[in-house]
Amino acid sequence: MTFLRVMGFSIALLAFYAIFSNSLPQVEPDLSEPVEVSTDGLDMDGMIVLGEKLFSGKGTCTLCHNNLGRAPDTLEMDLAAAFAERLADPGYQGIAAGGEGPEAVETYIRESLQDPSAYVVAGFGKKGTNDRESPMPIVDGPPIELSNVEMNAVIAFLQDRASMDPTVPLPSAEEAPSEEEPSGEGMVEAPVTDALAAIGKFNCSACHDLDGSGADLGPALGGIANRMNRTALMGAILDPNAEIAEGYDEGLMPDDLGEEMHASELLLIVDYLMALPEPEPSDENDEEGPATNAIDALDNHGCGGCHDLDGSEAELGPKLNGIANRMSREELKAAILDPNAVISQGFEAELMPDDFADDIVDSEMTLILDYLMNLPE
Ligand code: HEC
Ligand code: HEC
Ligand code: HEC
Repeated sequence: MTFLRVMGFSIALLAFYAIFSNSLPQVEPDLSEPVEVSTDGLDMDGMIVLGEKLFSGKGTCTLCHNNLGRAPDTLEMDLAAAFAERLADPGYQGIAAGGEGPEAVETYIRESLQDPSAYVVAGFGKKGTNDRESPMPIVDGPPIELSNVEMNAVIAFLQDRASMDPTVPLPSAEEAPSEEEPSGEGMVEAPVTDALAAIGKFNCSACHDLDGSGADLGPALGGIANRMNRTALMGAILDPNAEIAEGYDEGLMPDDLGEEMHASELLLIVDYLMALPEPEPSDENDEEGPATNAIDALDNHGCGGCHDLDGSEAELGPKLNGIANRMSREELKAAILDPNAVISQGFEAELMPDDFADDIVDSEMTLILDYLMNLPE
């Protein structure tokens, strides 16, 4: 297993070099054997050292980030000044835009690593894209595949080069997310380090049907990548009231997630959601568009669950068989659309759903009325 993974990695790496070596001046990164480094209990100094190793080794960063002009010469330039400049650049619209200080720099670097095209340093874009697309590979995907801890280490290394105290979480935080631990005074709660923990921390599935949680206060998020791109998704999370998803209530989704979340948590959630598949269509045809016959239409809206309808014998609402003897077609329609206008004697008010006007489309309503008006006692 381990052998296979090492093989796979080496092959991917070879392919990577084969592609880039044609277009690159030859610089040999230090590829001294890809040793498995144990990251357990590493402290911040250890993270910085690991980051430095990764930068010239497994990360292959020096393949491009060197003095040959293919990418910013990260190890030689004044990083503190460069990062401050990027964050303040009006052309930078990414998640740390306008921010300052080590946290913002962490976010900026992490975004550079996971979504290089979010900001392209002027003059370094892919040819012909007018600096819109970065030639830099995503470093947590193949072939480089840095793990979360490794990415944090690289970020710590670069923060240290920029003369600031690294703000990344230590690997120990990964093993034991300090969920319920009372945090000491003045301590900022450490970010959680996997997507599901982040989603749990912010209770997204209390309102969204996430992998079958069934909640429906907000839109289901499966297949969201078909509806929006990464940037729009981040926007929808950070500024939910800028655009309200059709059919849902405004002001319900918390609008302070941007302040509550660590940037790393946002990225975890976004990555997770972008990869979340469209849910399997359920066999019940409740969400599959309007019914095409009266029985299905009545079924979909649960009428027989409260009303005695063709022998369903439910008795929360009045019996519907023979309803034509009691009301006209128009009255019947009104009783369905606005059930609380008139409460049938002996039955409870407010029990019949009052949102059928939104749920029942015209074609279904016609089917239902035709059917009920002709339903014998
Ligand atoms: C195939 C070439 C290539 C590789 C490999 C590469 N980069 Fe880059 N990187 C670039 C280019 C080109 C840019 C400038 C364009 C841009 O902003 O995306 C860049 C930009 C960046 C930036 C933003 C720099 C700034 O000055 O604002 C950071 C941070 C960064 N890379 C880090 C890394 C790290 C860490 C690695 C290794 C894990 C790495 N890169 C690997 C080509 C590469
Ligand atoms: C208290 C309920 C609630 C919570 C908690 C909540 N949301 Fe929402 N969310 C909503 C509602 C309601 C909408 C639709 C209205 C709107 O667009 O603001 C929505 C909209 C969205 C959208 C836009 C979907 C679309 O199809 O347009 C996304 C994406 C989203 N939420 C993600 C999240 C994530 C991620 C979390 C957790 C970090 C979360 N939400 C937590 C209620 C919630
Ligand atoms: C959750 C239970 C419930 C569901 C589901 C429900 N109803 Fe009702 N319905 C009631 C109750 C209780 C009443 C009596 C109180 C009232 O008039 O609001 C009622 C009243 C009615 C009346 C007036 C009957 C009369 O004799 O005055 C009609 C017509 C009716 N419902 C049709 C429907 C149809 C059609 C559906 C499905 C589209 C439906 N209902 C779904 C509970 C329900």
